[in-house]
Amino acid sequence: MDTPQELLAIARVLAVETAALIRDGRSGARVERSKSSDIDIVTQMDLAAESHLRSRLSQLRPHDAILGEEGEDTPGTSGVTWVLDPIDGTVNYLYGLPHYAVSVAAVTGDPTPRSWTVQAGAVADGSGTLWSACRGGGAWRGDEPLRRLDSPRLSSTLLATGFQYVAERRRRQGQIVAAMLEQVRDIRRLGAAAVDLCLVAAGELDAYYEHGLHPWDFAAGALIAQEAGLRVAGIDGGPADERLTIAAPPDLWPPLRDALVDAGARDTWDAPDA
Ligand code: IPD
Repeated sequence: MDTPQELLAIARVLAVETAALIRDGRSGARVERSKSSDIDIVTQMDLAAESHLRSRLSQLRPHDAILGEEGEDTPGTSGVTWVLDPIDGTVNYLYGLPHYAVSVAAVTGDPTPRSWTVQAGAVADGSGTLWSACRGGGAWRGDEPLRRLDSPRLSSTLLATGFQYVAERRRRQGQIVAAMLEQVRDIRRLGAAAVDLCLVAAGELDAYYEHGLHPWDFAAGALIAQEAGLRVAGIDGGPADERLTIAAPPDLWPPLRDALVDAGARDTWDAPDA
């Protein structure tokens, strides 16, 4: 079986080369189609980036499975699944905002967030920064090790979140964020879950939560946050999943989670995304 370090080396290479591809194609980005709603867009560069990742993996790792945002699941025989977000933060990307990233993670076990073990992950963002981590081995921004040792109080927390693309879900997310706003220092909605998690790992955001993420949005970023010393979990303290992901320093996590429950976060949907 491959070591997390071996998988990390591949994840880094793939993330960096795909980030270069999407950076070069940014000025010509155009919407190709939409998904869960009209505003949930796919650009031709999302498709080109995923196709690049898949073709590189078929050369480098022909026996591995692939779970990608923009394509069919590819089965494998090795026990490793690559979880790919070719562009996380597609709306930012389309508008020319640098808060977007390529996210590449290698997981073992059943490739669903409640069952998988993330072995390695890399997030290459639109500002040229490579974030990465491997299981049990640490997290890095470039070559700089990341370690969060601070633990702010809830009232001084700079809290990030995000919204889904379906109007009814956004309405409920808006109610929760309104209840949280008066309890924290401030709220940020930057627009790319993978980068949000990396910024929490670096302490440039204090904490993050979001309902309704897809596996590819958080597989790599959650490992980077965890390896930097954060607690990343779902509403009941089990694995983060598509219902809710909460990332915070260990002492902040329980009061943040309690505040989210009081704000109605537990009652928000179980249903999978459209
Ligand atoms: C989205 C971004 C956004 C988050 C959404 C995600 P996409 O990913 O991560 O920040 O709020 O939930 O779907 O659509 O740009 O790949």
